[in-house]
Amino acid sequence: MLEKIEELKNKAKIFTIENLESLENYRLAFLSKKGFLNNLFEEFKVISGEEKREIGKQLNILRQEVEGIFNENREKFSGSAGVNKSNIDESLPVFSEKIGSTHPISIVKNNILEIFESIGFTVENGPEIEDDWHNFTALNFAENHPARDMQDTFFVNKEPIGNYALRTHTSSVQVRLMENEKPPIRALMPGRVYRNEAVSSRSNCFFHQIEGLYIDEKVSFADLKQTLYYFVSQFFGEREIRFRPSYFPFTEPSAEMDIFLGTATEQDKRLTKGTGWLEILGCGMVDPNVLQNCGIDQEKYSGFAFGMGIDRITMLKYGIKDIRQMFENDVRFLEQF
Ligand code: DAH
Repeated sequence: MLEKIEELKNKAKIFTIENLESLENYRLAFLSKKGFLNNLFEEFKVISGEEKREIGKQLNILRQEVEGIFNENREKFSGSAGVNKSNIDESLPVFSEKIGSTHPISIVKNNILEIFESIGFTVENGPEIEDDWHNFTALNFAENHPARDMQDTFFVNKEPIGNYALRTHTSSVQVRLMENEKPPIRALMPGRVYRNEAVSSRSNCFFHQIEGLYIDEKVSFADLKQTLYYFVSQFFGEREIRFRPSYFPFTEPSAEMDIFLGTATEQDKRLTKGTGWLEILGCGMVDPNVLQNCGIDQEKYSGFAFGMGIDRITMLKYGIKDIRQMFENDVRFLEQF
């Protein structure tokens, strides 16, 4: 048996393979069901005793060699070298595969995240289906606050699993973060949010927000202003900003921040309703009640938070007139980015 193995090894080595046809002959002779190799393995089955181990070893070596020769030649002949070149017109244009592009919302989101990451903010995520506590109660929403109303909020399977909703803002992730981590906290929380609103060119029933949160000792409104000013200078370029007093249940004091676009172009006039100012985000100092709800010592710590819509900023940046275009997945639209 060992002799037969040696013999076959030599046979395989000297077999002339010069094209795909002789390669197939080689395969039939050595590797097919009725080929030499299989026959030897059949013989091997009835061998017993001492011999079996050594023969088995040599048989496997033989198989590796025979297969190795086959694979090597297959690569050689099935690649371009094996193709009859005269059939190919090499001057024909190449049809390249279409490569996808990054969605405009993702481009803007990544830009914003990078700016804040460069000043030490981390990026955090939270669930899109939220309970009442994280979306409303912990954020100091009074029990009868209108935002809890069915008209704004999509509720999910109220019974039997309880009171869940599609989150109406990314502020819910603040709560999760404060509950799970100790200050200092410096984080950005991007994500999709949902509101039960009529769909039009300017508003959708879902959109994207980025939430910011900074909690530490002695954080002041001046820190908030400077951080946001830095963001605007990096994202929009040097521009005037202004803060208008506002109200959010989870911040006190609260403000809305506008940037100055001016009224030089028709578009700026329209976007700013003739005032030159465009609202970009809501912000404020985290209400001590919220800190307390989340288990953070409100005597020792303070913080600021802000939240902005990514979709509107994206529309502004690229001059997109209808918010719905961004979610129709029309390749002609997406290819532009
Ligand atoms: N959650 C607010 C909204 O959806 C946005 C917001 C305002 C977030 C002020 C904040 C904030 O963190 O401080 O309209």
